[in-house]
Amino acid sequence: MSQLDALLDKIQDLKEESKANLEEVESLQECEELRVKYLGRNGEIQELFDELGDLPDEDKAEAGKGINKLKSFLQDRIEEKKEKFKRREKEKKLKQEGIDVTLPGRSRGVGKRHVITQVNDELTTIFKRMGFSLALGPEVESDYYNFEALNIPELHPARDEWDSLYVDDEHLLRTHTSPVQIREMESQEPPVKIICPGKCYRRDTPDATHYPVFHQVELLWVDENLTFANLKYVIRSFVEEFFGPEFSMRFRADYFPFTEPSAEVDVMRPDGEDWLEIMGSGMVDPNVLEAVDYDPETYQGFALGLGVERMAMLKYGIDDIRLFYRNDLRFLDQF
Ligand code: PHE
Repeated sequence: MSQLDALLDKIQDLKEESKANLEEVESLQECEELRVKYLGRNGEIQELFDELGDLPDEDKAEAGKGINKLKSFLQDRIEEKKEKFKRREKEKKLKQEGIDVTLPGRSRGVGKRHVITQVNDELTTIFKRMGFSLALGPEVESDYYNFEALNIPELHPARDEWDSLYVDDEHLLRTHTSPVQIREMESQEPPVKIICPGKCYRRDTPDATHYPVFHQVELLWVDENLTFANLKYVIRSFVEEFFGPEFSMRFRADYFPFTEPSAEVDVMRPDGEDWLEIMGSGMVDPNVLEAVDYDPETYQGFALGLGVERMAMLKYGIDDIRLFYRNDLRFLDQF
């Protein structure tokens, strides 16, 4: 047998042997052992190359080609096996760690606006469509704007109703949004047609219907020839649009120092038994118009202040105002 044939046989034998060995490997470790055995620096492929040196020159090309072919065959197969074991080991590890990769991922959940913000926006949108524009005022208010200019002088018994939290002798957390009426009228001539949403504060002990921080939307319209009929029309249209026609509503005579005459508005759910007060309203008192240098002989106006939490409670049948501020997502998620 020629030297060449002997080497080619060897290549063939090595191929058979390595194939069989590859079939039997059972771990990454064993793959690596095979790699060193065949492809290592002193491995069997290298041995074949060494033998190649002894061949006659004209046979070297053919034998070299055979060895190279076997070499790349082994490289591919060993790499393939290694990948397989790596994958297996990873899966095994994941299983041991108790991670089920087939479980759906945890979603982050998209946030949404708080129900009070939603209702507040809904209310202001309805009034904006009626032509009222947005006005804002400070939450820390002076005694003058919160009381004095609204016809509630010092020692007036009505101050008891709006007992608040004082910042110093002259300033308090506003008890209602009505001071914005004064600020707006001071800054412009009639007609004035505004709404003012915002936070208000009272020294109330929290219970099912009271909370020391709450939201109001104030409305003020001052112009010539405005009457109580306009007030009723605006309120009735608003209530129908916000609650729908199946809710009942009523006006109830009341007293506010800054309106004359004054009325409370009560609303009842279709399935309800009790009226719930949602707003105070009335024709702007001439004393208030005079405080901002408007002539009460020329101008009339009406105002209302409604409680946003109350509106939300009625609309959705919520029986405790404290739920809004507990931040329980099971509650808030419903809106
Ligand atoms: N400011 C009053 C309150 O907080 C509500 C109100 C506003 C009443 C405007 C009449 C007119 O109770």
